[in-house]
Amino acid sequence: MSNARIIGTGGYLPKRIMSNKELEEIVDTSDEWIRERSGIKRRRIAADDEKTSDMALAAANNALAAAAIDVTDIDLIVVATTTADKVFPSTACIVQRRLGLEKIPAFDINAACSGFIYALDVANRFIRTGGATTVLVIGAEIYSRILDWTDRTTCVLFGDGAGAVILQATDEEGIISTHIHSDGKHEELLHVPAGVSSGYADVTVEAAYIQMKGNEVFRKAVSTLGAIAKETLLENGFEQNDLDWLVPHQANRRIISAAAKKLGLPMERVIVTVDEHANTSSASIPLALDVAVRDGRIQRGDLLLFEAFGAGFTWGSALVRY
Ligand code: UT7
Repeated sequence: MSNARIIGTGGYLPKRIMSNKELEEIVDTSDEWIRERSGIKRRRIAADDEKTSDMALAAANNALAAAAIDVTDIDLIVVATTTADKVFPSTACIVQRRLGLEKIPAFDINAACSGFIYALDVANRFIRTGGATTVLVIGAEIYSRILDWTDRTTCVLFGDGAGAVILQATDEEGIISTHIHSDGKHEELLHVPAGVSSGYADVTVEAAYIQMKGNEVFRKAVSTLGAIAKETLLENGFEQNDLDWLVPHQANRRIISAAAKKLGLPMERVIVTVDEHANTSSASIPLALDVAVRDGRIQRGDLLLFEAFGAGFTWGSALVRY
């Protein structure tokens, strides 16, 4: 059985930067509150004519350039998104066509903020079982389109972006293990109620946007992420000190710090982009990874832990030798 190694990373952020100050003009909030409670300073917002597939394609092209492979080497595309261009076809199929690829399987995964970990898990299994050799895994989201811009409890927290990795079969070490979980009991703590089978044609405005009980999600995220990080290290015979970098989902700096503390990791060994990107859901981990690979913090051979928690609830982790 082969291992799956990350051979290239890529990211894409829309040009428009929205500061906390700008949000003060829209809702009853303050730069101080947003920074203190979430760690967010600014976020990117997609242009009106920009779609999730545009951002996914840009991130994919960056990852392809970094991997220095031919696009035709890709034999599977998995896109994690909850903000697809269309109900169908999948965003992955749109990306496939725009990359000029034919026939290879391409599909989307919806696991909300844990989407990238789920996509990585599936791609890893394809490679380990010989079903694919070179996989394009993307997380891409336009949350600005599912935000209620009159709701200060949600609209200040999210942003748009896309991140991608290319995984390739190898005899060397790569993805060591992936762990995914879900618990549908908490559906209504974090959701967008509208959907195709639940009144899609006459959806109310509120139902089309994110609804979240932030503090309940916060508490659950902190306890769950602490547990899964320890479970992941223990299962693989590693100790907390063996980790070079924690690359967590970027929802809130306080959630990230709590997870790092439980692992005994100083914040210097945690990749944080929530200040610049806000929460980009399934795009947040590949974007953070790409930032830290490009600025030289993450080096070949480093041991990385990815972890995420999101709507569903879903959560997961991946232990990766980069
Ligand atoms: O990606 C995975 C899913 N998402 C998350 O993981 C997000 C999880 N939750 C969080 O990050 C935090 O719970 C928030 C950042 C959303 C909120 O922080 P908090 O410390 O849990 O605050 P809170 O919800 O308990 O609200 C505290 C106060 C409330 O006022 P009162 O009732 O104490 O008077 C809110 O109305 O802050 C108020 N508030 C705001 N004030 C200014 C809520 N949003 C805002 C705002 N600006 N934007």
